[in-house]
Amino acid sequence: MQSISLAQLSAILAVTAQPLFADFASTRFIQLYLYAHHVDGLQPGVYRFWQARAELEKIRGGNQRVAAAALSLGQDLAGNACVAFSMIGDLERAVRAHGDRGYRYVHFEAGAVGHRLYLAAEALGLGATGIGAFYDDEVHNYLRLVPEQGQVVYHFAIGYPVPDPRLEA
Ligand SMILES: Cc1cc2nc3c(=O)[nH]c(=O)nc-3n(C[C@H](O)[C@H](O)[C@H](O)COP(=O)(O)O)c2cc1C
Repeated sequence: MQSISLAQLSAILAVTAQPLFADFASTRFIQLYLYAHHVDGLQPGVYRFWQARAELEKIRGGNQRVAAAALSLGQDLAGNACVAFSMIGDLERAVRAHGDRGYRYVHFEAGAVGHRLYLAAEALGLGATGIGAFYDDEVHNYLRLVPEQGQVVYHFAIGYPVPDPRLEA
């Protein structure tokens, strides 16, 4: 099984932490958690990415492939990837800051972060897939979130694309 390097993962994470120039993004509401499966130099586990300090905090150790797939509505790609992500949106803080629009802004931000994951992965010769299907409560429990942290809004998987001959011209 091919791995990505920690330098590649760091580059991907750094891209997500760059400022977003949009009216919905004056404050950031998305927190990234990752399920490291095959990252050279990083033990398999669940990590929280602390954006301001560019640090990873280990939340759980051990192989996360079954858990990541199960949490992503049983989709194998979240376990077969090199790294999978949960984006946690602080919906309550967003609504306090922006009123009813806050809910939408959190999803705009998740989409923008997802876009960057797609671009960063492609630029590194990797593949990426947004994952919109997951078990919310199970994710919250597994990541050991406290309610104030918010709710899962988007999942993602990055790894080596599997060629699909059905899609070839
Ligand atoms: C918001 C969003 C959610 C997605 N959710 C899933 C998903 O749950 N499972 C999956 O296999 N692909 C998911 N995808 C990926 C799409 O199925 C598709 O692969 C992607 O949009 C690329 O399209 P293309 O392969 O036709 O270029 C999602 C994509 C986006 C943008």
